[in-house]
Amino acid sequence: MNKKILITYFSATGTTKKAASMLAKVADADLFEIEPEEPYTKADLDWMNKKSRSTLEMSNSSSRPKIKNHLDNLKEYDIIFLGFPIWWYTAPTIIKTFLESYDFTNKKIILFATSGGSNLGKTENDLRPCAPNAIWEGGKVINGANENMIKSWLESLNI
Ligand SMILES: Cc1cc2nc3c(=O)[nH]c(=O)nc-3n(C[C@H](O)[C@H](O)[C@H](O)COP(=O)(O)O)c2cc1C
Repeated sequence: MNKKILITYFSATGTTKKAASMLAKVADADLFEIEPEEPYTKADLDWMNKKSRSTLEMSNSSSRPKIKNHLDNLKEYDIIFLGFPIWWYTAPTIIKTFLESYDFTNKKIILFATSGGSNLGKTENDLRPCAPNAIWEGGKVINGANENMIKSWLESLNI
């Protein structure tokens, strides 16, 4: 049980950030925010607009939005919780950028997300090719999470 845990996340409007902070506190883990080089504006996030940035990114399988910051010590971690908002029933494409930026060989990746109600669905399948050598361990949407709920989720995991 001396595995080192990292909680890393992208959050456009703060909901996933809150969940990630709670997770880091309960798991006593380090926290790293994935920051887009170009922050998402309200207009960028308009899913009703076919031409908004998020719509264009999510409809282009080769979209890889740039990340501003870099994690220098990924090597140190055994388990990486990777969090994001659900966009169009899956992960924002910046999560693919993140996964393709590091070597996750033999690292356990556990997804978490917040959403307006959708579950993870096919998200893990969408992301796996970006880090094929990782050990993928499922995940959870943690909408409205409280510390007790997170605690029991962590206890239920094989970590
Ligand atoms: C472009 C876009 C697409 C979204 N698609 C979905 C979706 O498919 N299903 C869902 O339940 N919520 C969807 N949402 C809602 C977000 O998942 C939800 O508000 C999330 O908690 C936001 O997290 P954040 O504050 O960390 O960015 C979408 C939001 C945006 C901006």
